[in-house]
Amino acid sequence: MAITLGRGRQKEIYLNGFLGRNIRLPFDFNELEKQAEKKLGKKAFGYIAAGAGSSRGIQNNLDAFSDYTILPRMLNGSDHPELGLSIFNTQLPFPLLFAPVGVLGLAHPKGDLELAEASKLTGMPMIQSNQASFSMEACAEVLHNTDHWFQLYFGKSRDLVESMVHRAKLTGNKAIVLTLDTTILGWRNKDLANGFLPFMYGLGIAQYTADPVFKQLMEKCDLTTGEQLNARPGIQDAITLFSSYPDSLINNFKTRNPVKAVKTFLDLFSKTDLSWDDVRWLREQTKLPLLLKGILHPEDARKAIDYGIDGIIVSNHGGRQVDHVHSTLDSIVEIKKVIPEEFPLILDSGIRKAADIFIAMALGAKAVCVGRPYVYALALGGRDAVVEYIQNLVSELQITMSLVGCKSLSEINRDCIQNK
Ligand SMILES: Cc1cc2nc3c(=O)[nH]c(=O)nc-3n(C[C@H](O)[C@H](O)[C@H](O)COP(=O)(O)O)c2cc1C
Repeated sequence: MAITLGRGRQKEIYLNGFLGRNIRLPFDFNELEKQAEKKLGKKAFGYIAAGAGSSRGIQNNLDAFSDYTILPRMLNGSDHPELGLSIFNTQLPFPLLFAPVGVLGLAHPKGDLELAEASKLTGMPMIQSNQASFSMEACAEVLHNTDHWFQLYFGKSRDLVESMVHRAKLTGNKAIVLTLDTTILGWRNKDLANGFLPFMYGLGIAQYTADPVFKQLMEKCDLTTGEQLNARPGIQDAITLFSSYPDSLINNFKTRNPVKAVKTFLDLFSKTDLSWDDVRWLREQTKLPLLLKGILHPEDARKAIDYGIDGIIVSNHGGRQVDHVHSTLDSIVEIKKVIPEEFPLILDSGIRKAADIFIAMALGAKAVCVGRPYVYALALGGRDAVVEYIQNLVSELQITMSLVGCKSLSEINRDCIQNK
């Protein structure tokens, strides 16, 4: 679908206002977050919004953009600056990807399926989360020919990792993104205060319960040993848990498969001693482009290249893992200095507005990932709101490029910005 962008979109919004039609989504991120908070319950909002510890990492990501200003050049404008690019055989109509976000079912009952619809409508690729609420097979049915990638967590079972990678290929994913920064869950104050971990309720484990290797591992699960998950959740929580496994509620009560699945998942997630040897092994398992997500240190970036990695998503998981973590924008500047010019870097964490995308690209990012903002849009109005959010963000980018004097993405460079 061709969505209206740039000046056309701007005109459309003003016309809607003139005709007395409601403007649905706020344009400001803080307002978007506030509205989503009202709509989402305390636990769901906490899970999405939380940073690790004091959430200083989230702020660091945002503050880093404030260190730069955009310096426009005159008399080089264009009506429709070119926004498209291709990366790893994936077509991007504009330099954005949907960041992998787990447990989207907390934001919307149809979670990942609704996002897949938005991806199809906009052409903006989604990176499917390893912790999705709907399996990659279910999403593939919605996505059809829309390009998409799969994000992998490397658990304790290599057989399971191999199986996930195999399914990712079969379901048409054009790249694998291995997330490195979550070998343990960060210390997230909000989730801890709510005592809420969605996976314990069987939420966000759809990639596992659809997996043949996982099902075999589940069969070996002994519910009488280890942590007792069959304790006594409240009625609502029990229904959530017992509906989480792909079978009827009655069968699930009989087989206790949902409990087995949760227990097996918790046993397997994650591999705390994940190492470069595992990266080497994974590299050997797939011919798909392999990206590492979560790299911040220049030496790790250099090492990734030595291990045959195709690209890096410079990310700190949206400040969810390490409190006071280094900002991704600062990291990209540092990483750029030690890697070959053409090596693809994608910036993730802290993208809130078009100026952020522009600055990230001026500093060398090939594209960026959008995270929390689209999750809030999804919560507020499902697929249509996600499309609207992206339309507005991309329109703002296109208008910014016009006004700064960039006719295409390749004209966004270091000369377009100043360090304060
Ligand atoms: C609720 C939530 C769940 C997430 N789940 C995953 C995940 O399953 N895999 C992953 O690699 N990153 C995950 N992330 C991190 C995002 O991919 C991305 O790095 C982060 O949202 C970027 O920060 P920002 O949203 O502040 O821009 C998650 C982020 C949020 C907010």
